[in-house]
Amino acid sequence: MVDESREAVRVQNVVKDFRPGFGLRRKRVLHDVTFAVQHGEIFGFVGPNGAGKTTTLKILMGLIRPTEGTASILGCDVQESEFRHRIGFLPENPYFYPYLTAREILDFYARLSGVSGSDRRRRVEELLGLVNLGHVADARLRTFSKGMLQRVGVAQALIHDPTVVFLDEPMSGLDPIGRKEIRDVILSLRAEGKTVFMNTHILPDVEMICDRVAIIVNGSIRHQGRIEDFLPDRGRRTDIVLSQLAPDTADQIEERFDLEMVGLGERVEIRVAEKDAHGVLDAVMISGAEIVSVTPYRNSLEDVFLDAVREGEAA
Ligand SMILES: Nc1ncnc2c1ncn2[C@@H]1O[C@H](COP(=O)(O)OP(=O)(O)OP(=O)(O)O)[C@@H](O)[C@H]1O
Ligand SMILES: [Mg+2]
Repeated sequence: MVDESREAVRVQNVVKDFRPGFGLRRKRVLHDVTFAVQHGEIFGFVGPNGAGKTTTLKILMGLIRPTEGTASILGCDVQESEFRHRIGFLPENPYFYPYLTAREILDFYARLSGVSGSDRRRRVEELLGLVNLGHVADARLRTFSKGMLQRVGVAQALIHDPTVVFLDEPMSGLDPIGRKEIRDVILSLRAEGKTVFMNTHILPDVEMICDRVAIIVNGSIRHQGRIEDFLPDRGRRTDIVLSQLAPDTADQIEERFDLEMVGLGERVEIRVAEKDAHGVLDAVMISGAEIVSVTPYRNSLEDVFLDAVREGEAA
């Protein structure tokens, strides 16, 4: 039964053990992993190399079975097959037959997915445009760069207009412009009401487009929640760098404001609550100190991520 509840994807208490070879000890790579993806959101599954992202995605795709626990997509257990035409998948290292052209390979995948006749031609052209490969549509894939092949992979995942799209490192191998284009494609999917699950370790991309994230380290989920929760504006602060700050001015502002001050050679760096930044700047300007820079500071996803990795490694 395809279920239309709020959850598009659920991974529940999943454990995965691998046996590295005959007679060798089992290695646990997923420890009781639980999370859900809501319909219509972009979900970022974030973690360092070897954390278990691809293993989790392979379980979702039904490519490997969990040792314990369950996984479902659109309310169906992933071992079932009836929902499969509604999902799209970009694997980690997609391989495409090198002697086909971009147009031919997309046509091939469209046929495989049962897209017929004129619909297929229209769909292939639409996707070539979407991933910006229209100008090389008739070039053989063996002449494509890594980034161009990655775009073929993204187009392939979308060929049958799936409801839920799973992308393993969609920005991998892309230059900044390519990353922006793929981000825009993913945002356009959300605008159409689709659900996107993506594995990645490129945090700025996650901050820019994901609605919610889960951070996995060493096979355990360390944090999950809405992206805003990882970018708290409580405690918004400003970093101010000064030079030629007289010692008595330093004492005076340290007394008046709640701030952290560190000396960097000739320079002094001050981190202060955003609301106090004006006051501090007024005081130092009167004193004749020179303002080198003023930068708003946000506790970023990167800080949370790095802390999670440290905690995970300590655990
Ligand atoms: N078939 C396998 N047999 C044994 N160990 C495996 C197998 N597949 C994955 N692993 C191990 O499971 C762990 C998680 O791997 P996984 O590929 O899921 O990580 P990942 O988070 O996708 O990393 P990356 O960011 O590098 O893609 C790693 O320690 C890896 O060595
Ligand atoms: Mg991986």
